[in-house]
Formats: sequence, C-alpha cells, structure tokens
Amino acid sequence: MRLVGTMTAIILIMFILAQGLECSQTCKCDQMYFCNCSSNNLHQVPTVPSDVLGLDLSFNQIESINMTDLSSYNELIILNLHKNKLRHIHRDAFKSQHNLEVLDLSLNNLNNLSPSWFHKLKSLQQLNLVGNPYSTVGPAPIFSSLVNLRTLHLGSPSLRELHKNGLDVLTHLDEMTFFGSNLRSYENGSLKAARPIGSVSLSLQNLFESDPELVSKVLQDVSHPETLLIIKDVTMKTNTSTEPFKMVKEGGTKSLTFQNSSTTDQALTSFLEFMDGSPLSFIGLEDIQFVGIGEWQKAKYTHHDSLRTAYLRNIEIEGFFGFSSMIELGFLLKHFHNVSVINATVFVIPKETTFLLKNLEYMDLSQNLLTDLTIQPTLYTGSGAYQNLNMLNVSQNVLKSLGLMSRLVTNLKKLKYLDLSYNSFVSMPEKCSWPVTLRFLNLSSTKLSTLTPCLPSSLTVLDLSENDLKAFKQRFPHLTTLILTGNRLMKLPDGKLFPSLNTLLIQRNALRMFNQSSLRSFKTLLYLEAGANNFVCSCKFVSFFKKDVEDLITLQDGRQNYVCNTPFTLRGNAIDSVRLSVFECYMIPAVSVLCFGIITALGLVVLTCHKLHVIWYLQMTKAWIQAKRKPAVGRLPEELRYDAFVSYSQHDAEWVEEILVAELEDTQPSFSLCLHKRDFRPGRWIVDNIIDSIEKSYRTLFVLSEHFVSSEWCRYELDFSHFRIMDEHNDSAVLVLLEPIKKETIPKRFCKLRKIMNSRTYLEWPEDEDKRDEFWSNLRAALQRDEC
Ligand SMILES: *[C@@H]1O[C@H](CO)[C@@H](O)[C@H](O)[C@H]1NC(C)=O
Ligand SMILES: *[C@@H]1O[C@H](CO)[C@@H](O)[C@H](O)[C@H]1NC(C)=O
Ligand SMILES: *[C@@H]1O[C@H](CO)[C@@H](O)[C@H](O)[C@H]1NC(C)=O
Ligand SMILES: *[C@@H]1O[C@H](CO)[C@@H](O)[C@H](O)[C@H]1NC(C)=O
Ligand SMILES: *[C@@H]1O[C@H](CO)[C@@H](O)[C@H](O)[C@H]1NC(C)=O
Ligand SMILES: *[C@@H]1O[C@H](CO)[C@@H](O)[C@H](O)[C@H]1NC(C)=O
Ligand SMILES: *[C@@H]1O[C@H](CO)[C@@H](O)[C@H](O)[C@H]1NC(C)=O
Ligand SMILES: *[C@@H]1O[C@H](CO)[C@@H](O)[C@H](O)[C@H]1NC(C)=O
Ligand SMILES: *[C@@H]1O[C@H](CO)[C@@H](O)[C@H](O)[C@H]1NC(C)=O
Ligand SMILES: *[C@@H]1O[C@H](CO)[C@@H](O)[C@H](O)[C@H]1NC(C)=O
Repeated sequence: MRLVGTMTAIILIMFILAQGLECSQTCKCDQMYFCNCSSNNLHQVPTVPSDVLGLDLSFNQIESINMTDLSSYNELIILNLHKNKLRHIHRDAFKSQHNLEVLDLSLNNLNNLSPSWFHKLKSLQQLNLVGNPYSTVGPAPIFSSLVNLRTLHLGSPSLRELHKNGLDVLTHLDEMTFFGSNLRSYENGSLKAARPIGSVSLSLQNLFESDPELVSKVLQDVSHPETLLIIKDVTMKTNTSTEPFKMVKEGGTKSLTFQNSSTTDQALTSFLEFMDGSPLSFIGLEDIQFVGIGEWQKAKYTHHDSLRTAYLRNIEIEGFFGFSSMIELGFLLKHFHNVSVINATVFVIPKETTFLLKNLEYMDLSQNLLTDLTIQPTLYTGSGAYQNLNMLNVSQNVLKSLGLMSRLVTNLKKLKYLDLSYNSFVSMPEKCSWPVTLRFLNLSSTKLSTLTPCLPSSLTVLDLSENDLKAFKQRFPHLTTLILTGNRLMKLPDGKLFPSLNTLLIQRNALRMFNQSSLRSFKTLLYLEAGANNFVCSCKFVSFFKKDVEDLITLQDGRQNYVCNTPFTLRGNAIDSVRLSVFECYMIPAVSVLCFGIITALGLVVLTCHKLHVIWYLQMTKAWIQAKRKPAVGRLPEELRYDAFVSYSQHDAEWVEEILVAELEDTQPSFSLCLHKRDFRPGRWIVDNIIDSIEKSYRTLFVLSEHFVSSEWCRYELDFSHFRIMDEHNDSAVLVLLEPIKKETIPKRFCKLRKIMNSRTYLEWPEDEDKRDEFWSNLRAALQRDEC
C-alpha cells in the first residue's frame, strides 16, 4: 500500500512539474531578462519573472490591461503589445513602468487615447500607436508627460481629426510617422514641433488627389530645412495632386523622398514646376511605379540648382524602352553630383547624353541590366563626362568581360572606388589597365577561379569574396583590407605579400590551420576573421588557438565560430571547448615509443630463445611427443629394417662412408646401416627423417668427435635416441670415439651426451693400425642383434 502511495505521489509531482514547465514555456525568457511571449494565443498578460527587462506580447489575444497586470514589472524597458485586441487599458496600467523606453501598442482596438496612460512614462523614447481605431487626437494634449519621446508613430485609416494641441509638448522628436489617409480636419500647427523633427514620414494616400488643401496644411507644418521629409503611399496622377509641394518648397525642405508611390509624366512635370527654385538637394524615389517615358520637357525652364543627389531604387517603369533619350532631362541631370539608380531596369545611358554627367562624383547603377555591349556607351567619356567620378557601382549587372571593364574605367581619371560584384567575369586577362587613383575594388561573387597580374597594385581594399579561388600569390604593397571569404583556400596567403594589411577576412574557406609563423608573416595585421573553415584540431593548433592567437591578432568574428572539422570525433565542436588528452597530443612520440618497446621486447625474447636454444628444445619436445604417440614398444623384428642408424657429423663423413660402411656392410657377416645422406627420404623434415630412421634401426651408432658436438643434427639425433635409451632398450646406443674428447669441452647443454659417456663404455678408434681388427670385432659384437 505504501509503495502504491509513494508511486502516486511521485507521478503527481512529475505531473505538476510538467505542468509548471509547460506554463513557463509559453514565454521564453533568456539571460538578458527578455521574455518572448509572442504568438501564444494569450488572453491576458502572463506572469513572468518580476525583474524582466523586455516583454514581447505581440500577436496575442489580449483585450485589456488592468491596474495590476503590469504592476510588478517595474524594471521593464521594452513592452511590445503589437497586434492584440486591446480595447481597454486601465488609466494606471503603466504606473510602475518608470524605466519603460519602448512601448508598442500598434494594431489594437483602442478607440481613445488617454493622456493618463503616459503620466509615469518619463523615460519613454519610442511610442507606436499606429493602426488603432481612435478618430481624433486632441484637443487636450495627450503626450505632454512624455518629455523624452524621440520617436512617435501615430495615426490610422480611422483618424479623422487632428487638433492643434493634441501633440503638445513634443519638443524632442527625432522621428515621426503619421498615417492619416482619411483625415477630414487638420488644425494648422498640429504637427509643428518647437524644434524641427529630424525625419517625418507621411502616409496620406489619396488625400493628395482628394484634398490637396488639407495636405498643404500638413506639409506646411512639417517642411523645414532640417527635416527629412518622406511621402509614402501616394498616387499622383494629375497636376493638382502635386500642388501641396509648394509648401515643401516654401518650408525650405532639402531632402524629399517618395516611397511606395506611383506617378506619371504629367504629375512629375507639375511637381518640378511647383518646386521651381527650391533648395531641394536630395530627391529619393523608392518602390515607385512610373507610368510614362520621361517627357518632362515642359518643366525645362525650371531651376533646381541645389539638386545634388538622386537616389532611385526599385523603380518600375512602364515602357522603360521609350526612356532612352535623356537629353530632354538635361536641365535636371546636369546638377547631380551623386546618382544612384538601383534596380530600375537601366540598360544603357546613351553615348550622346553622358556629357550631362560632367559633375558626377558618385554613380551607383547596381542591380540593372547593363551588358558588355551597353556599358561602352554608358561609360563614354568623350565630352568630359565622368571626369570627377570617384565611385562607380555596377554590381549585379550582366557584365562578362573584366578586360573591357578595366579599359573603360582607365579613362575615369579620379576613380577611387569600383564595385563590380555579382557579375560573371569567370576569368581575368593577364594584363589590365586601371586608373592610378583606384583604391577600392570589389570583385565579390564574380565566379573567378584564378588571379592574374591584372589586378592593380594600388589597391587598399580588395574584396574577392564568394569566388572559387584556391591560391593567392600577388603582392599588394598598399592593401589594408583583404576579403577572401567564401573561397577555397587551404592555407593563409603569405603575409609578406601584404606589408600594410590590417584586416583579413577569410571565413568559409578550406583552411586546415594557421600557426604562429603564418600569422607573424603579416607584419601589420590586427584583425582576422577566419571562422567556419575546415580546421584540423591537432594539439598544436588547438593549443596555439587557445593560448597564443589573440596575442597576435584580434579574431573579429568571435571565437565560437572556430570549429573543428577533423578528427571526426571532434567535428562541430568549438575549438575553445576541445580538450585533448596527453596521448592524443603526443600520438606520434607515443606510438614511436610503443613500437620501439615492442620491437625491443621481441628482440630480447628472440635473443633469449637463441641463447637458451628454446627453439631447439621446442622442436625436440615436439618430436619426442610424436615419437611417444607411436606404438613403440613391441616392435617386430621385420619392422627393424636396419641394424644401426649411424649418427655422425658431416666432418666425419669420410670415415663413416669409406671405412665404417666398407667394413660393416661389405664383409660377412654384413650389417645394414642407415645413413641420413643415403637413406633419408627426400622432402621430409629432417627431424621426422631422423625419428623415422631411428625407429627402424635396431641400434644407434654415435660417431663422436669434436665436430659431432658442434653439429645441430647430431644434437637432435643424440637427444632422440637418448629418449629411446631411457624409454626402451637401454643398450640401443653404441658410442664410437673417433678422437679423444675431453669431457670438459662438451658444452653443458649436452649433459645427456656426458651422461651417456659416463654410463657406457665406448669404443675408441685406435690410431694404431694393429689394434683396428680388435676395434672392428668389438663393434660388430656391440651391433649384434640379440636373437630371441
Ligand atoms: C519572439 O518569438 C517569435 C516566434 O515565436 C519570433 O518571431 C520573434 O522574432 C521573437 N521576438 C524577439 C524580440 O526575439
Ligand atoms: C486584473 O486581471 C487579472 C487577470 O487578467 C485578474 O486576476 C485581476 O484580479 C485583475 N485585477 C483587477 C484589479 O481587476
Ligand atoms: C491654416 O493655413 C492655411 C495655409 O496653409 C491658411 O490658408 C489658413 O488660413 C490657416 N488657418 C488658420 C486658422 O490659421
Ligand atoms: C503602398 O501603398 C498602398 C496605397 O497606395 C498601400 O495600400 C500599401 O499598403 C502600401 N504598401 C506598403 C508596403 O506600405
Ligand atoms: C493641369 O493640367 C491641365 C490639363 O491636364 C491643365 O489644363 C491645367 O492648366 C494644369 N494646371 C496647372 C496648374 O498646371
Ligand atoms: C526590384 O524592384 C522591383 C519593383 O520594381 C521589386 O518588385 C523587386 O522586389 C526589387 N528587387 C529587389 C532585390 O529589391
Ligand atoms: C551619395 O548618395 C548615397 C546614397 O544616399 C550615399 O550613400 C553616398 O554617401 C553619397 N555620396 C556622396 C559622395 O555624397
Ligand atoms: C553597390 O551596390 C550593391 C547593390 O546595390 C550594394 O550592395 C553595395 O554596397 C554597393 N557598393 C558600394 C561600395 O556602395
Ligand atoms: C562587395 O560587394 C558585396 C556584394 O555586393 C558586398 O556584400 C560587400 O559588402 C562588398 N564589399 C565591400 C568591402 O564593400
Ligand atoms: C605553419 O603553417 C604553414 C602552412 O600554413 C606551414 O607551411 C608551416 O610549416 C607551419 N609552420 C610551423 C612552424 O608549423
């Protein structure tokens, strides 16, 4: 019972824990005290740690915030309630948020804006109220307590009225966005701040067409020489819709940008007329749909002498092929010093019109349709065009010849920056010519696989990232920044090639390592980015990386990006986290020592074996065991083919073969002898032969001499017969001493021979001829079979 109870308790606790985890999982809180509760289908403000600094509640279903919902979060700096269903916010809801700097209430259901919400938000810098259905702002001041507000986003399609004092006393605004597409009433001065606002963005949409007068009042309030004016989301088709720009001119606006708008030749012409003589110096057009072919010559008489910069981006020109003659626009173009026409289907600037660009210092024609064919007229310098050009960007066009590009820009006498990235050069010629002034060259993503001396050595910044380079050998004496990210280099280039290099970017290559000497060769290098390479985490490299690398340079891309590729066991581990054991680190010495040890031990064993004749004893033992296995005892006489097996040394062969054999085999009664030379079966192992022979012989005759003792075979024979002698007939061995042998000269190992010599009488071969007959008869007697 108790067990069941305990189990239940454990399960209950686990269940509660799981529930708890699930609860805290709705909000992800990080170490920076930022809780992200976005998109969690929340219907009320959740409970989070009270020391939270940032709280993201966007994309939920929260309908109201009462007095106590946020009261414990008094450290809060960022509160995001974007896209909820907020209908009601208690007047004291934010009363403890003294530190709040960012508040986003956009896209909710707030029908009224209450000044009491903001009373305590003394630190608030950014406030977003866009997209709520409030219809009026003012007349009572709403934001007067927000003394530090810098950024305000206000308005919605529901906004009908803007009252004069509604925005009092916003004197520190840097940035304001105002949405008022359905504004019906605008009181003069409502958007006018005491101090000019840094940048004002207006989305008044159709009001330009339907109520130009109201727009004029708005523009009057926000036009100021120090305010960057952005007009968004308008459609200007007729000359009336551009009338409000009179106010922009009068206000002295210097920077005007249109975004997400569409316009026509007619509207643009009248715009130019209204702006005649304005101090405008910057005109920007972003995400513009243009219907027309550039027929603006009606405005030819106008003066725009202050215009310096045109920034055009993402321009969709209906009928852009009709746009080729720009001479008509000369009255405008001749003023510009700085022109960017990005992503605007530009495919050529006709040769005849480039003279209009005499003053140009900066030209960005990136993301267009320039080809090798059309770039030639476009960069035509015939009539003094481009002589001040400092920077040219033709990135992301469809250029294919680097040689042609280099020839064309040679004529640009002041060119310093050249961006050729995202073209398909693939290769480069051996020789190129460049303006001597060139310092910055961007050849990123141009499919280059090898470098040639084409590149100018005057460069200080060279970007060759995202190509296919495998080696880098050219010298650049002035280069301070080299970008080789995303190539296939296996090692760092030689630092001696870059005596001025400051920054080297070489991420995502195939670098295996770098070391002290390779880094030291860069005399002036300060910053290196080399993460995401195929590092081989050898001990040398790991220890160098951990200890010494930052003494030489700063790893700008963060040490955590330096990850091992090999060995396989470490793949994906940050080098900083790798710990290598002593054995791994000293693998080669360790293995060497181990091998040496094994070899030495083996050598010792072999030596010992040799010294102790282990092999010999082993062979003997084996032979003996084999012999023992045979049914030795009770051999029949017919099995004994020989009377004697003669065991002798090769040196005594003459005596045995000439004298002994002649005496014993050729005279009656004759004995049959077994001689290894004569009677051994060829192809068998010698020991087997000996065993076999001895088995088949009645006796073994040892012919002893000094040589006998030193002969290997004799030893086997002796030993084997010794076993036999011990096992069977004791007298099967017959010893003949050919010469006197001192027993002491017999090696100790042959103790058996010694024993036999001790235990048995032996026949001595006499020097004296007279005594030989006696010797023979003794021998014959000794070899005589016992008849039974
Ligand atoms: C919060 O999480 C959502 C996804 O749940 C993510 O889209 C959003 O960027 C996160 N916000 C912040 C500030 O990290
Ligand atoms: C505020 O709302 C929470 C739930 O959202 C509720 O628990 C709490 O009682 C409410 N407080 C007051 C003062 O209404
Ligand atoms: C508001 O300004 C317009 C011109 O922008 C002017 O015609 C009008 O009289 C002004 N109204 C008031 C009440 O100042
Ligand atoms: C662009 O302007 C149109 C109105 O002219 C508007 O409906 C649309 O939302 C705007 N797009 C963006 C991205 O602001
Ligand atoms: C506006 O254009 C119409 C023709 O489209 C013309 O009759 C009228 O005079 C123009 N108004 C101004 C102020 O240019
Ligand atoms: C280029 O401009 C077109 C509109 O003219 C736009 O749809 C497209 O997204 C732009 N491309 C880029 C990369 O901005
Ligand atoms: C030209 O205008 C571009 C885009 O506004 C700007 O980034 C660049 O610094 C300007 N260059 C010069 C020389 O004024
Ligand atoms: C050239 O244009 C590309 C694409 O618009 C841009 O990414 C790059 O920064 C520009 N280069 C320079 C040096 O401004
Ligand atoms: C070179 O061009 C690429 C692609 O436009 C860009 O990402 C890179 O920042 C440029 N390099 C430099 C040094 O400006
Ligand atoms: C350093 O690395 C280079 C290759 O990058 C290699 O040629 C050189 O032998 C290395 N030097 C030392 C001391 O390991």
